[in-house]
Amino acid sequence: MTERLAPRSRRLFLAVWPSDEMRERIVRAAAPPIARSEGRATAAGNLHVTLVFLGEVALSRVDAVLAAASGVAYPPFIIRFDQIETWPGSDVLCLTAHDSPREIHALSASLRTGLAAAGFELGRHVFRPHVTLARDVPRMRSTEAIGPIEWRVDDFVLVESNMTKTGSEYALLQRWPLRAPTREESR
Ligand code: 2AM
Repeated sequence: MTERLAPRSRRLFLAVWPSDEMRERIVRAAAPPIARSEGRATAAGNLHVTLVFLGEVALSRVDAVLAAASGVAYPPFIIRFDQIETWPGSDVLCLTAHDSPREIHALSASLRTGLAAAGFELGRHVFRPHVTLARDVPRMRSTEAIGPIEWRVDDFVLVESNMTKTGSEYALLQRWPLRAPTREESR
């Protein structure tokens, strides 16, 4: 008999998660470019923008992630996704914004700062906001402009990723509304 050991860690990331309406808009706009790319489409329910990838987090440290994320105060903003591209050296097809707003960079950076202060080692990383639309794209694609998708970001989520035989499954663990900092927090 094989015994399954209880996991000691959880694979976590912080992300912006689309509403059902936003997900449908992305799926509608991206279906033809995904088909042309010959890549493996991301399941519609998995579409998101990663803000910070934490990787394996020991169970004893999950509360520290929750506390760090709760301490981030940032007002809502809009990101206007308007192109689909592959990046050199990568085989993923991504939805990106030609002009990504400074707010999403600042949100990701403040989450990283909070997590670093709590002792998480995240390493160096250049944040490029994107939605992964497909993987295993066989050839580089030229950047394709699409009718803009304006996504109002008013919250962010903590997600657990589980690898299954059929691909990654994501479970939303917690959601935080974006909010203006209190007077104490902005001091
Ligand atoms: P993506 O955002 O480009 O799709 C869960 O694995 C999510 O975290 C994925 O959406 C993935 O890429 C993102 N991610 C960022 N850095 C990662 C890493 N080093 N390993 C795995 N996933 C990573």
